[in-house]
Amino acid sequence: MRALTWHGRRDVRVDTVPDPVLEQPDDVVVQITSSGLCGSDLHLYEVLTPFLSPGDVLGHEPMGVVAEVGPAVTELSVGDRVVIPFNVSCGHCWMCGRGLQSQCETTQNREQGTGASLFGYTALYGQVPGGQAEYLRVPFGNSLPIRVPQGPPDDRFLFLSDVLPTAYQAVQYAATPADGTLVVLGLGPIGDMCTRIAAHLGVRQVVGVDLVPERLARVEARGIPALDLSHGDDEVLGAIRSMTRGRGADAVIDAVGMEAHGSPVAAAAQKVVAAMPSGLGRTVMETVGSDRTAALELAIGAVRRGGTISLSGVYGGSATPLPMLTLFDKQVQMRMGQANVWRWVPDLLPLLGDDDPLGVDHFATHRMPLEEAAQAYSMFQDKTDGAVKVLFTP
Ligand SMILES: NC(=O)c1ccc[n+]([C@@H]2O[C@H](COP(=O)([O-])OP(=O)(O)OC[C@H]3O[C@@H](n4cnc5c(N)ncnc54)[C@H](O)[C@@H]3O)[C@@H](O)[C@H]2O)c1
Ligand SMILES: [Zn+2]
Ligand SMILES: [Zn+2]
Repeated sequence: MRALTWHGRRDVRVDTVPDPVLEQPDDVVVQITSSGLCGSDLHLYEVLTPFLSPGDVLGHEPMGVVAEVGPAVTELSVGDRVVIPFNVSCGHCWMCGRGLQSQCETTQNREQGTGASLFGYTALYGQVPGGQAEYLRVPFGNSLPIRVPQGPPDDRFLFLSDVLPTAYQAVQYAATPADGTLVVLGLGPIGDMCTRIAAHLGVRQVVGVDLVPERLARVEARGIPALDLSHGDDEVLGAIRSMTRGRGADAVIDAVGMEAHGSPVAAAAQKVVAAMPSGLGRTVMETVGSDRTAALELAIGAVRRGGTISLSGVYGGSATPLPMLTLFDKQVQMRMGQANVWRWVPDLLPLLGDDDPLGVDHFATHRMPLEEAAQAYSMFQDKTDGAVKVLFTP
């Protein structure tokens, strides 16, 4: 089959690789009809390179049609339409039972000291082949795939794999009081969807922040004010204070993560680490602060005393310094983590009807053949051609 494979820093290619096969009795193989490109894939493209091997198949936002089922699969049949969550979670362990699918105890990566395996996401998370491909082997066929109705276009359901549950969890973790103010830093797919969900759930004042003009415009077009960070942190912080009687926001979502714009020293360090041989690069990432924390610092500045920071942006360094004095003094609560996809599916499915309150049908800005995936990575990374959300058609 054809699949998007990683070869090195900023080097991904569509190659012919072996077709996936059923390995366990409850596996299914899904023929992929649409597959998303995520901001998390950009970390693999550029920064997390010490944790990848040439030939790794990327992608964790797939949907498609069940092509093969193992003998122990009773809940799905060939031809069913399914979305695959990015967490590889068993559905029946202690953690899954508590809605913490990203910590699934059946797929936790204990040698790496990390949580549940993820599709297409490095040796840190199980090195499971990903879904930017023609076919995908999916374990736990009785519980992991999300069966969706036939009929509406793929765009209606695809975002259940990642964008929707990630944004929903970020908004829930932010726990903004109904009469309060929520600031969303970063208006890529995740931040944009956070603003839509928060507004839909009735948060009184939602404000976005980014520095890419068309991303700001896209959010403003839905009636959400958006602040332009290219005017500088101080201007953004001043605007947030003036909207909140000088106190700051009740809650801030960081939907940016480790590659934030505005951290020049760490940006240079990330480039150096990415160019190192993988063993050395891993050691450095695990022992030296290597995240660009500009967005997190902005979040700490923008949140009011006693407020909440909800982190959905991914951070990767183990020794990233945090301003503990300020966090403690401001009495900030922080909640974070990979999204627990299945935890939020029952809340999200009713929002995916024909009235389309979250605007999923037109959320993607680009749909491209899988064969053009390498160009898509560089376009999404460089934020050219108005690319906000790219979907591949294998
Ligand atoms: N927690 C999860 O389960 C989960 C799931 C999906 C994605 N993510 C993470 O969420 C983050 C966002 O993902 P995305 O797909 O929207 O990616 P993206 O890269 O398209 O979006 C990031 C946005 O942040 C903006 N930005 C950069 N620096 C900024 C700053 N200092 N302040 C404000 N905005 C800034 C960029 O211009 C960009 O629009 C990534 O870190 C990704 O890895 C986490
Ligand atoms: Zn993702
Ligand atoms: Zn589990």
